[in-house]
Amino acid sequence: MLVSIHFEDDQKTIQVEANQRLTKICDQHPSSILFGCRSVACGTCLVEVLSGIENLAPVMDEEQILLDVLAPENPNARLACQCIVEGDIRIQVAN
Ligand code: FES
Repeated sequence: MLVSIHFEDDQKTIQVEANQRLTKICDQHPSSILFGCRSVACGTCLVEVLSGIENLAPVMDEEQILLDVLAPENPNARLACQCIVEGDIRIQVAN
């Protein structure tokens, strides 16, 4: 199944196979979303999900701890390095 990812900062929409890590997708389709540690430590990859947050695999404990520090007021924030894309999403850089 193909899913659609819209990068708001770049005004770019791509279609990719579902259930892939966003890191892998972004490695193949460079965008404004940057990665540092790729392991829930630096917060570089903080994004806001403008639509389709339910189409990302659930937040795990480690990610939630960092989200609580970086974006406690934003229920639509995710760390892109931890996201697995299961359906259509629209995202933008949040830091
Ligand atoms: S790249 Fe460091 S937290 Fe995602």
